[in-house]
Amino acid sequence: MEKKWWHRSVVYQVYPRSFQDSDGDGLGDLQGIIQRLDYLAELGIDVIWLSPVYQSPNDDNGYDISDYQAISPEFGTMADMEELIAQAKQRGIQLVMDLVVNHTSDEHPWFVEALKGRDNPFRDFYIWRDPAEDGGLPNELLSVFSGPAWEFDENSGQYYLHLYSKKQPDLNWENPEVREYIWSMMNFWLKKGIGGFRMDVIDTIGKVPDELITTNGPKLHEYLQEMYQQTFGNYDVLTVGETWGATPEIAKLYSDPLRKELSMVFQFEHIGLDQYPDKPKWDTKPLDFIELKAVFTKWQTELGDSGWNSLFWNNHDIPRIVSNWGNDSDEYRVVSAKMFATFLHLLKGTPYIYQGEEIGMTNTAVSSIEEIDDIESKNMYHERIAEGYDPENILASINKKGRDNSRRPMQWDDSVNAGFTTGTPWLALNPNYQTLNVAADRHQTSSIFEHYQKLIQLRKEHELVIWGDYQELLPEDPQLYVYERSYESETWLIVINFYESIVTYQDKTRKAASVISSNYSDSSVDLTDLVLRPYEAIVYKLK
Ligand code: GLC
Repeated sequence: MEKKWWHRSVVYQVYPRSFQDSDGDGLGDLQGIIQRLDYLAELGIDVIWLSPVYQSPNDDNGYDISDYQAISPEFGTMADMEELIAQAKQRGIQLVMDLVVNHTSDEHPWFVEALKGRDNPFRDFYIWRDPAEDGGLPNELLSVFSGPAWEFDENSGQYYLHLYSKKQPDLNWENPEVREYIWSMMNFWLKKGIGGFRMDVIDTIGKVPDELITTNGPKLHEYLQEMYQQTFGNYDVLTVGETWGATPEIAKLYSDPLRKELSMVFQFEHIGLDQYPDKPKWDTKPLDFIELKAVFTKWQTELGDSGWNSLFWNNHDIPRIVSNWGNDSDEYRVVSAKMFATFLHLLKGTPYIYQGEEIGMTNTAVSSIEEIDDIESKNMYHERIAEGYDPENILASINKKGRDNSRRPMQWDDSVNAGFTTGTPWLALNPNYQTLNVAADRHQTSSIFEHYQKLIQLRKEHELVIWGDYQELLPEDPQLYVYERSYESETWLIVINFYESIVTYQDKTRKAASVISSNYSDSSVDLTDLVLRPYEAIVYKLK
């Protein structure tokens, strides 16, 4: 496989509303990110994935765009954006923009025009259908954010499609004019020197709504190949698609370099392991650890040379891993957070860190729906109330899986509002910020931040971490995740106790030469009878 810079990179996701406010309006902004670039450079990351900063009415916090070529005034100006790109580059950091092109905002001028009537030149930029014969919805397609995916437009007597909120009408990718506009918008950003695109729900652009096909539609890859030819194929950039239902076979269609589509995809198979396949994400089941390992192993082995993994536990749509599947108690939060980091960063693929993960930020429980901002959680709440669910029950689901968990402001220090803003924060902070914050973490002798720094350094210094073959040992062990990475004549062994209880690992065939990384300061090098403490995660170099 041709070696690219992004094979060696570590990406850091910034959710701009919640990262750093520079002007006291309670909302993070571009100048705030610039102020924190030295922090990110110190962490050692190579790329920032910036969640949307375009003009938007914020029905879905920027994932509903009303102007793709303008910066939302609440985040700053185009000059700030150019400064951010340049300042990041000076520190060796590339800036990856979020590309949200399955839909626009209903306040985008294209949709405003389209609403004017069936003959408007922009009508066909969106997906319109007549009512069914009985006068009802065109079909039973549902929105990801609850309720039907069709919204009636009184004026024209037709429905438009919205796979997300009704303020996020789906673009009609079949229309070549739509694609032309999108290519030109992407080139506008590429010319500004960005480092690539993270492509929002890109697996839906080939949808065939009349056949109830939303993801992986027949023309999806044709469009992506056209996109490559018309836009980023002319640049050396990172592209990552958000593809919820991808299997390794599907991932190869996107990321096999010979097919000229994307660098890599986000697949969510591990993330869905506490859900039932046929139920909404809110109805959770306990995580099956054996299954978790099987999923990671499948992805580590099946892409081969015809695809590339993204590695992640967290993002702005997913609750904090240390609370969700780890242990966020005072006693174990730090080792647990470091365990997840070790687990992921020694795998093959490009790791992503979501803001605050590097200090082990946690979920935030709420006791009333009034405390929630996220449209997905709010819509589900009202839908379930109408269906007769117990409100306590619904809030429990939101506290476990809701998106606000990861969207609360970054906890920098123990000053008012954690140093995030001098104003009133747009979303309340987690009250634990007084003790859990960047300054406090870095003050410890062995901080989570430093653990991430070291893992990032290992990737920079050892080709084995990037290219080494992966082999899992003990796939049936209910508590340990053990895998090897080998490259040329070197082999590393990664031994992880995923749980709180103590467990032994006995290996009579392998001998460790040294401990390369551990979340305890005194991990044993003797593999014949290794006693692993709660969440202990050790990386060995073998003899
Ligand atoms: C993606 C984004 C999410 C957004 C949705 C609709 O899943 O990550 O935040 O709500 O797409 O754009």
